[in-house]
Amino acid sequence: MTDDERLSPQQLKQLFLFEALSDEQLRWLAEHGRVETRAEGTAVYQEGEPATCFYVLVEGAVALTRRVHGEEVEVSRTEQKGVYGGAIQAYLGDAVDQVYRNSLRALTPVKLWVLPADQFSTLVRTWFPMAMHLLEGLFMGMRNSQTVVGERERLLALGSLSAGLTHELNNPASAAVRATATLRDRVAGMRHKLAMIADGRLDGSQLHRLVELQEQAVKRAASAPKLTALQASDAEDEVADWLEECGLTAPWDLAPTLVAGNVTVDWLREVKQVIGPADLESAVRWLAYTIETELLMNEIDDSVTRISGLVAAAKQYSQLDRAPHQVVDVHDLLDSTLVMLAAKRPPGVRVVKEYDRSLPAIPAYPAELNQVWTNLIDNALGAMGEQGTLTVRTGRDGDHIAVSIHDTGPGIPPDVRPRIFEPFFTTKPVGEGTGLGLDISYRIVVNRHHGDIRVESQPGDTTFRVLLPLVETP
Ligand SMILES: Nc1ncnc2c1ncn2[C@@H]1O[C@H](COP(=O)(O)OP(=O)(O)OP(=O)(O)O)[C@@H](O)[C@H]1O
Ligand SMILES: [Mg+2]
Repeated sequence: MTDDERLSPQQLKQLFLFEALSDEQLRWLAEHGRVETRAEGTAVYQEGEPATCFYVLVEGAVALTRRVHGEEVEVSRTEQKGVYGGAIQAYLGDAVDQVYRNSLRALTPVKLWVLPADQFSTLVRTWFPMAMHLLEGLFMGMRNSQTVVGERERLLALGSLSAGLTHELNNPASAAVRATATLRDRVAGMRHKLAMIADGRLDGSQLHRLVELQEQAVKRAASAPKLTALQASDAEDEVADWLEECGLTAPWDLAPTLVAGNVTVDWLREVKQVIGPADLESAVRWLAYTIETELLMNEIDDSVTRISGLVAAAKQYSQLDRAPHQVVDVHDLLDSTLVMLAAKRPPGVRVVKEYDRSLPAIPAYPAELNQVWTNLIDNALGAMGEQGTLTVRTGRDGDHIAVSIHDTGPGIPPDVRPRIFEPFFTTKPVGEGTGLGLDISYRIVVNRHHGDIRVESQPGDTTFRVLLPLVETP
């Protein structure tokens, strides 16, 4: 494969890349470069392999290809003498991964002039110091602006999520505030009632019995079954009718609270027996207060629990106080993402989780994976609109974990399908989609985690499947 043929300084000067070099520089090149030949159909170099050589085409025809989402795509073919390829970024040194960015294949028997990458790098750095700075600036600038755009997208996504979260937090928070205000009012009412009961004809043992009944009421309230609207109104009728028979004023105010606290007519009969008919009204109102405060405290408890749940999910989602790379359970990530996206989900969209809980934790960048789930779920929700089912499934696939996000939306049309992973490709109206969601997801899954992301789609049935290695790949 390697002949020891060299090109003379005069021959090198014919190549457009070298036409402006001095005789001394040409002599240096002639000395350090050599000519190689390749047979028709063979590879000159392969994408992803360490970039060790800089190539210039001297004779023959070549094709340049790139792998795009698993497919080899031909970028160009040429027989123009002097075109170059290979380690063209050698002069950037450690600033970039020194691997071939594409593959070069010989279409005919070819002759190439080859210079080792380290010598090419030295040459550019010492012969063209100023151009070198300009190139570095251009390259780094482009790379930074790409990252900034990506980061910005992520921030925007997080921004709209935090708006959703604020909304989600607001409901339980205002419920808790309302319940606390009512509770304060009811507790004041109870203090007042206590004085009235003490003033009355209740002797010590009756009062003792009343406190016991109160304890019972608390227990009944805690185990109150959930009634349908119809069942509740039937029960309220029954209780109110009985209280009315016993001569209570305005029993209709009391009935809903008593029923919510699981109070039945049978139990009220017991109360009447213990307290006696004369004090029944005071006693029942006192018990109603007890039940109401109990229910209010439950409500506060629920609201506050919901708030801490949301805060925990937000923390899990953002991973703000965690190491960027950790061993994680993907289910925790999926759950927190679903909580964060809950506000974006219309009531007509059902979520089904089919988790394989036996899956082991995997090494990953959790905040970035959350970004992937967010993008995929956001797309699925966007595709389905008001109605549909979102299924989040996990399972094992050989030495990978598979996470699939499935939606019942209209699917991805075949002509759109090859382009969805391209940056800035979107079918959404201007201002709605940036077209970066899948591009970012692809980079996170494939480049960061050495996994894979695949899609299968037909109308009513679209699945994005993310594969993540169980163990770290070097
Ligand atoms: N689940 C899906 N169902 C149907 N089409 C989809 C689905 N997911 C992605 N697509 C298509 O792929 C395109 C690109 O998706 P991508 O997430 O990259 O960008 P976007 O959703 O349009 O915008 P962004 O995510 O930046 O808001 C979408 O515009 C849409 O046409
Ligand atoms: Mg999207």
